[in-house]
Amino acid sequence: MASLKILVIPGSLRSGSRNVRLAATAIAEFAEAGVEVTRVSLADFPLPIYDGDLEASSGVPKHAIDLKRMIGSHHGVLLVSPEYNSAPPPLLKNAIDWVTRVSERDEPLGHVLRTRPFALASASNGRFGGARSLAMLRLILSGCRATVIPTQLSLSFADQAYDDMDRLRHGADLDTLKAMVRQLIDVAQQMRQHD
Ligand SMILES: Cc1cc2nc3c(=O)[nH]c(=O)nc-3n(C[C@H](O)[C@H](O)[C@H](O)COP(=O)(O)O)c2cc1C
Repeated sequence: MASLKILVIPGSLRSGSRNVRLAATAIAEFAEAGVEVTRVSLADFPLPIYDGDLEASSGVPKHAIDLKRMIGSHHGVLLVSPEYNSAPPPLLKNAIDWVTRVSERDEPLGHVLRTRPFALASASNGRFGGARSLAMLRLILSGCRATVIPTQLSLSFADQAYDDMDRLRHGADLDTLKAMVRQLIDVAQQMRQHD
């Protein structure tokens, strides 16, 4: 069987993003676990804010179709989300909204989100590490009937969370990251067998 493929999507485009940094840390863990891992930037899938009139006049944008296909070519997805005012950023929510509007072949809308598992992580300099954005992201994805694995990482005080070697400083963060990576791989393998 071909190797398992995991997609990592940071929800920030910012240079110096704490969430991009956490995504890179997670990618190293996936690679160590022996799976094929791809990171994409949502900058490569620029999308207008969802508007039903735009969809009716112009159809679903090509970048939404490309992003849906990118998700579809992987067996599991990790979203690494900033927290803006207790919520996921519009960048990520808008991308999810557009992906749920892609209909290809005979697939029902949102099929790609229901057929592979999602894991969630966040990083913030605050005490809660963006945990509230993940609660909302979990709700959004559950509303799409996606499988979202229980283990998630919210990296608090993210600027102090790394040592000089760019490794997570606190054992609890590293343990949670490893558990999340393992769980996503396990659930992705199970869902792949039943696909
Ligand atoms: C509009 C806005 C709202 C924010 N609200 C929160 C918040 O509710 N909770 C939090 O922990 N951080 C909040 N922050 C701080 C972000 O978590 C912080 O800027 C983070 O580093 C952004 O992610 P990034 O580094 O990956 O770009 C907010 C930042 C912005 C710009």
